[in-house]
Amino acid sequence: MTTATDQAFEEFLAAHADERLESYKELVRIPSISALPEHVPDCRRAAEWIAADLERIGIEHVEVAETGGHPVVYGDWLHAAGAPTVLVYCHYDVQPVDPLELWTSPPFEPVVVGGRILGRGVADDKGQLHLHLRATEALLATRGRLPVNLRFVFEGDEESNSVNLEAWLRANRDRLAADFAVISDTGFFEGNIPAITIALRGMMYAQIDVTGTAVDLHSGGYGGAVDNPANALARIIAGLKDEDGRILVPGFYDDVVELTADERRMIGELPFDEDDYLARLGLPALHGEAGYSTLERRGTRPTLDVNGLWSGFQGEGSKTIIPANAHAKVSCRLVSNQDPDRIFGAFRDHVLAIAPPGVRVDVRLLGGGRPSHTPIHHPATQAAARALEATFGRAPVYIREGGSIPVCATFEEALDLPVVLLGFDPPDNGAHAPNEWMDLTNYETGIRTIARMWDEVAEVGIAGLAG
Ligand code: BES
Ligand code: MN
Ligand code: MN
Repeated sequence: MTTATDQAFEEFLAAHADERLESYKELVRIPSISALPEHVPDCRRAAEWIAADLERIGIEHVEVAETGGHPVVYGDWLHAAGAPTVLVYCHYDVQPVDPLELWTSPPFEPVVVGGRILGRGVADDKGQLHLHLRATEALLATRGRLPVNLRFVFEGDEESNSVNLEAWLRANRDRLAADFAVISDTGFFEGNIPAITIALRGMMYAQIDVTGTAVDLHSGGYGGAVDNPANALARIIAGLKDEDGRILVPGFYDDVVELTADERRMIGELPFDEDDYLARLGLPALHGEAGYSTLERRGTRPTLDVNGLWSGFQGEGSKTIIPANAHAKVSCRLVSNQDPDRIFGAFRDHVLAIAPPGVRVDVRLLGGGRPSHTPIHHPATQAAARALEATFGRAPVYIREGGSIPVCATFEEALDLPVVLLGFDPPDNGAHAPNEWMDLTNYETGIRTIARMWDEVAEVGIAGLAG
């Protein structure tokens, strides 16, 4: 599909290369950390920056829409009469940056080092959002039109469980009508191999609070006579999983769909070097559920992990107390067809059942999201595969990701939209960790992939997409 307009597209991108990088950095400089109340104005600033950019490049009906949480940015371009309509989703919020001392440069002062750009959000997910903006801009500037109709939905609450988004999506169902959705918030496979993600895990996030006395006790005066909330919590946590990595919550696996032999074969055929993976992690050994390979454990099996644990004295030296209370944050990654609310119920019941009688135990749900599957053989997925192959020079592999994007299931279930997970992050990009980075070749080529994708989708047409 090489045409004269492709050349104009390349020339436009070449002429605006410096401006593009500067604009990418500008977006990254806005510290839009959705989890922290002190960054509420920054999240709005990021939303307004994106809205202004959408307006500037020729997107219409641009709106910074209120959700109750951080705003959603909406915009559309609907002049490709008779062509398919695609809903594009990315998120502009980012994770907190601590521990700050481990960053080699300040997280919100992006720098380019040897083909990489470094900073919070450069990969997850501002870089991907930005490459969509730049692909759209270059198409509109060089052709005066887009090959397909686009509706953009850019969220600001993804890293905080998207609590308000589902209601907003349902309320705006009519104006979000599309043939399918593209979510650009995933990445490539090990070795930076182009990939299309076909499954994401869901999530159940809970907190356990164990309470003893109103204040700490002298551990000499009371030790031995009362239970210790920290010890009690340790016993509870030990009762959640066995030595083989099986989760002990009754009913936990009831709704888990086992992989077919074919699916296991596909995963087994991925070019994955386990020794290299282990070496890069710097661990003495890998660990997981007996009977499954590392890739199966990571992408297809549910988990239960302690994400945070605190109690008692944390300072230097020693302090002899029975702590008044102890706390744990625990999350489960879920797979089809596990339901976050049902899993929370089973989890809470089990924790309360094994809770020692000498302490009070509370279990609260902090958030959740359903797992999702996207169809390999859908014409839109295949259009994405052709676009990746045409621009990265290699057909994508199909992978199951361990991470979660709750909105994926919402698009499928609440809006009846098939989803294509077309993302460009390199693996090991440090997302959520210090020194997050984006491969600038992935970013630049990704712009071409998106443009090519819209051409491919236009060629498939509405009837072709319906199958
Ligand atoms: N972009 C990630 C999801 C992801 C991670 C996709 C790894 C592919 C590979 C997303 O921003 C994210 O971090 N999601 C959270 C969801 C949670 C806050 C509900 C996650 O997975 O922890
Ligand atoms: Mn993300
Ligand atoms: Mn993330």
